[in-house]
This record gives sequence, C-alpha cells and structure tokens, in this order.
Amino acid sequence: MSDLSNKHIVLGLSGGIACYKAAELCRALIKAGASVQVVMTEAAAQFITPVTLQALSNRPVYVSQWDGREPNNMAHINLSREADAIVVAPASADFMAKLLHGRADDLLSLMCLARPIQSVPLILAPAMNREMWQHPATQRNVTQLRADGAHVLDVGQGEQACGETGDGRMLEPEEILEDLVAFFQPKVLQGQHVLVTAGPTFEAIDPVRGITNLSSGKMGFAIARAAREAGAEVTLVAGPVHQATPRGVRRVDVRSALDMQAAVAQHVDQATVFVATAAVADWRLAQVATQKIKKDGSGQLPQLQFTENPDILAGVAQSERAQNGTLFCVGFAAESHDLLEHATAKRARKGVPLLVGNIGPATFGLDDNALLLVDAQGSQALPHASKLSLARQLVAEIARRRG
Ligand code: CTP
Repeated sequence: MSDLSNKHIVLGLSGGIACYKAAELCRALIKAGASVQVVMTEAAAQFITPVTLQALSNRPVYVSQWDGREPNNMAHINLSREADAIVVAPASADFMAKLLHGRADDLLSLMCLARPIQSVPLILAPAMNREMWQHPATQRNVTQLRADGAHVLDVGQGEQACGETGDGRMLEPEEILEDLVAFFQPKVLQGQHVLVTAGPTFEAIDPVRGITNLSSGKMGFAIARAAREAGAEVTLVAGPVHQATPRGVRRVDVRSALDMQAAVAQHVDQATVFVATAAVADWRLAQVATQKIKKDGSGQLPQLQFTENPDILAGVAQSERAQNGTLFCVGFAAESHDLLEHATAKRARKGVPLLVGNIGPATFGLDDNALLLVDAQGSQALPHASKLSLARQLVAEIARRRG
C-alpha cells in the first residue's frame, strides 16, 4: 500500500516562484498513491501553466470560479467536498492574508472558505521572500490561521530566487510529501518523547582504521520517523550511517559505543520510550593507537587488545524510571538463526518488557524486513513488509502497551 492510497488531495497553487516546485509535488503525490485535483489562482498561472499541471495530474485544472464545466457551476463546493485535504503549495503572503480575513474573490480562496472545516483539513506550505516571512503581519497571520484550524507547514531556509538568503522559501516537494503522509497517520504517541538509537558504532583502531558492522540504520530511522508521524517528540542517536534525517526528528550523530552511551545518558531523562535498534559493537580497542599502525616488513601482526563495551540498553533498562514504568524500553536482536529462542533469552537478559527480533543477514541494508515481537506473554510475528510499515506497526504496539 502506498502512503497516500485512497487519498484525494486538492492541490492549490497561489502566485509565487515556488509554483515550479508544485509540479514536482503534484507528481510526488500521485506516485504516493493519491489522486490530485489542481486549483490555481490567476497569479499562479503567471508562473506555471495549467497545461503542465493538467498533464501531471491527469485532470483538467480549475482557475476561475466562473468555470462553466461543473453542471451546478459550484466548483468551490464540489471540489472541496471530494477532498481528503486541501494543500496550498505555494501559499503566498497575500493568499494567507486573504484566507485570514475569510475573503473569497477567486476560486481557490472561495473553496478554502467553503470547505467543511471539521472534515477537510487545510494545509498551507508558505513561500515568500525572507523579509515578507519575518514581517509581523505575516507572522500574525500564521498564528491566526493556525488558531482558525489551518495546518501551516514550516518554511525552508537558504538561498531565495530573489538572491537573498534566509527563511521563507517553500519546503522541497519531498519534504511536503513527508509532512502530508505524517499528517494522515494516527497520533497514537502524542505527548510521548521517544529516544531511538540506530546504526552501527565505529570503534577506532588508529586514526585511519576501525571496526564496524553492516547495520545500515534503516530500521532505526524508520522507527524514528514512524514515532514522529505518531505525534511523539523524537531524538535519534545515530552511529555512522548515510540516511536522511526524518522530518521533525532531532538527530545526534555519534561514532563509538561510548559516544552513543554518553548521548543516550544526556537525553534519556526526558524520554518516555527508549527503542534501542543500534548494532552496538561488543568490543572496542583497549588502547587506540594515536598514530597509524605501520607494517614494519617483519611479517609480525599487530597485537590488538580488546575490552568490552557497556551494554547501553541493559543499563537504561535497570534505571529507576524504566523499573517503575515511566520509561518503556524496547530492545532489538539481530540474529542469524533460532530467532525465537535467542530473542526470548535476550529479552530476559536485557530486562526489557519488549524485544524485537529479526534475522540480521537477511535484512542488513535492505528496505524491508520481518519482525518477531517477544514479551513476557509470548511472541507475535510481524510478517515481511517495508521497514517503514513495520515501524508503524511497532509504534502502534508500543502505544497500545503505554496505554
Ligand atoms: N545493545 C546495547 N549496547 C550494547 C549491545 C547491545 O544497547 N553494547 C542493544 C542493542 O541496541 C539491541 C540489543 O541490545 O537493542 C541487543 O543487541 P545485540 O547486539 O543483538 O545483543 P548482544 O547483547 O550484543 O548479544 P549477542 O551479541 O550475544 O547476540
């Protein structure tokens, strides 16, 4: 199932240079499974043609409230009643000012005003010059639009079409898509703070070498994303991985197991849920060489001495907050065989209420996985699916157990 399947989105464009990004957004929404009906203001049609958006959405575009194509001539009613959400991207400063006053002198503003406010959410992706964005009038309008029930997305930061640099550019299409997908997820972890560890650790041997493992971090990143989608505040402590940070997630990058332990210690007091997906190295070098270890030509191998790393999860699970249930701990187990047996033993050894087993070599680096949830009562399989889908199921399970 795609993230937006069965969703019908009315995509509104008001006038701004970011209209060119709305074309990409339209494609991205359709790729995610949505059907898209485009409505543009006349100003938007100065920036990008309705022809482009018709071709991308595979539907005629509406621009005028006097469009005679609707049998009842009430496009503003018909289009808004069909929508699961109205997304205005770009939402210009002028268009937001207009919405705020309940003005309705063009089809898009008329349709926003006429939407059934309880059942059709209005999502705005602002786009404007940084001075316009910072202006007290715009900031006042954003506050009031939120109070009136609109969902105003963040703005992007960086170079602007006008040559200035700052806050105010429209989010990238994939960012808007991620926010929209999150918008439709049930908010089962609202008010919770989830701390996640993800990825491998890297244990240095000398300044140029080290020991690590094949964990890609994908499962942990998917859990961080799913928890955020579910309304939680999320902190993600990540070992060295090449994964994009999920939107709205606070990321702390670390390298070694000791760094990870320190970062967890720093954030765990605020957390109500701790999910340890990281593949933490079991050992580190007792002494890291300060200079590169050289071959001396004698054929003698370097003598590496190891020491055991702390068990981060077991440590947290023994804390008072975990013991009294204020902090819910979830462990992971990457095994190569006998999953149920190892996961059951590991849950008891780590002292956590829930342990999630998976077959490591079958999933490292891939986008899908299969999980086995083990608790004091027994086990439950989450069959093969994408890591994001499994992460959402796990989040729902954690929410159920948190009550
Ligand atoms: N874990 C941890 N700190 C460690 C080792 C593991 O926090 N030093 C956490 C992992 O993030 C995971 C769980 O403990 O949630 C199990 O990790 P795993 O590597 O499978 O277990 P180990 O304790 O290392 O057991 P073994 O290597 O014997 O399978």
